[in-house]
Amino acid sequence: MTDFPHLKRRSLIKALAGTTLIPLLGSNLIACSGSSNGSDNSDPALSVPADFLHGVASGDPLTDRVIIWTRVTPQSEGQVRIEWEVASDPAFTTVIVEGSGATSAAVDYTVKVDVEGLEPGTLYYYRFRTDGKTSEAGKTRTLPEGSTLKASFVVISCSNYPAGYFNVYREIANQEVDAVIHLGDYLYEYGPEGYASDRAEELGRGVEPKNELLSLSDYRKRYAQYRSDADLQAAHAAHPFFIVWDDHEVANDGWSDGAENHDPDTEGDYSERKMMAIQAWYEWLPVRPPTNMKDIIYRRFSWGTLLDLLMLDTRVIGRDQQFTYDDFATDGIIDVNKARAGFNDSSRTLLGSEQLEWLRGQLSQSSAQWVVLGQQVLAGRYSVPASLIEALDPNLTDEINLDKGVAALLAAVGAKSTPPSERTPEQQALVDSAVPYNLDAWDGYGFERDQLLNFATQLGSKLVVLAGDTHNAWTSQLTTTDGNIAGVEFGCTSVSSPGFDGAGLLGPENAALFSPLVVGLIDGLKYANLVGRGYLSIQFSPEDVVATHRFITTVESKDYAEDQSASVSFTVQRENLLLT
Ligand SMILES: [Fe+2]
Repeated sequence: MTDFPHLKRRSLIKALAGTTLIPLLGSNLIACSGSSNGSDNSDPALSVPADFLHGVASGDPLTDRVIIWTRVTPQSEGQVRIEWEVASDPAFTTVIVEGSGATSAAVDYTVKVDVEGLEPGTLYYYRFRTDGKTSEAGKTRTLPEGSTLKASFVVISCSNYPAGYFNVYREIANQEVDAVIHLGDYLYEYGPEGYASDRAEELGRGVEPKNELLSLSDYRKRYAQYRSDADLQAAHAAHPFFIVWDDHEVANDGWSDGAENHDPDTEGDYSERKMMAIQAWYEWLPVRPPTNMKDIIYRRFSWGTLLDLLMLDTRVIGRDQQFTYDDFATDGIIDVNKARAGFNDSSRTLLGSEQLEWLRGQLSQSSAQWVVLGQQVLAGRYSVPASLIEALDPNLTDEINLDKGVAALLAAVGAKSTPPSERTPEQQALVDSAVPYNLDAWDGYGFERDQLLNFATQLGSKLVVLAGDTHNAWTSQLTTTDGNIAGVEFGCTSVSSPGFDGAGLLGPENAALFSPLVVGLIDGLKYANLVGRGYLSIQFSPEDVVATHRFITTVESKDYAEDQSASVSFTVQRENLLLT
């Protein structure tokens, strides 16, 4: 292989333990010289010139290994030979492991290496070379082992290129944290006229390709566009990511066999579309490929004695089709008992039986001080009076009636804040009519959620649930059906996707008005901010968790700042899981 100048080959013996090749059809894990079970068959003479245009990334670190990633853009068709190195210093004077291999059009010229032989809890730098060119350097960190006193993360979701600039990614690139947890909607599948695209052209962020994503080539091109964004590249280069997909990596409101935004009559077989989307996802994201099936992404990461992070798939692997309130309403009026019976149907699943068994096993075996679920959709009970849904649910009304919605909200808040003994029969009926507002979330699969929370509580798990998907920020106390405290939930807002404050929904002024009111309406909900883009920062210690919802001023200009006045922090004591 080509030698790097100025390398001190202090640890090249270690490199002989090099990297692992994980067999997977279409895998972009490259063969590496120095690998114990793989070999570099690439011929430097056959390599075509190429450039690094999509940055670098790392992810899924363990105590002794981490995935590093890049992508090359070839100047002509052919194979591209890649060299990589991992060092303990940013100048790369002390290289710990290095290797080489090749990539090709078969994996869209992406490159993924599972670098082994690393030390626990250690900061590393990595970079790639081809054709005399060197990529930028990335920074990553392995997981600690044994006694661990702190861990810190940024939690994000829902990065929508046409909706605005990725200022949140820029912001988190500058944070000092151990890792980024990305809860999905890393990209959106829509064409140029799709969701949140009103100002896309004006912002210079019209989507590529200019159609809804349906083919492997489409999905690859969209990833390439997103990864051309300098702010996203900066975030990846700064931190290892733990990523799961949500629905938009395939199509809106997906379930295991279909999606709201998929019409088999005009868009073909959903399972084929799904597998193409998943192939591109594995090619373009720094995720360790599974050894068995490509669509299994649930997995565990441990920070020594401190916490187990269980990344889940509530979207693709097992989810039954969502209900909509159409299923339970006549002439726009919801049959509350029928709806509740649907949500509490014990045969419905969000995780699927295999993942659920895996999760129960992980919870049972965990001896960590905290158990964290990194997953897509809100897990708390977010129930509001049926009248509010009847006014605002687009499935029930041709046009959202904001006046009616505000009146219903104020009436409901009035009823809820009145002591039960003093409520009028109408007020009590309002309170008694509470049903979930989001049937795509765990609320639409209430039986399975309640079983899971009861199980974790019986085990004494110290449960922290992280959720994305809603594009707004939430903090909730999770409880069992008996009212016992089961844990806490933090829902992060979005990187750029509009939430309830979006033009097609409440708009920013109404969303600001609704935010404190819904807190008074929903049991267990301690905080909601329905306005603004940002992220959650969260720190764990053996005694407590401190989580802060952070926001930026705008995604519609690159000239932004952190909106410090909007930040809100919560603390959770491990002893009692109470939110303060
Ligand atoms: Fe989203």
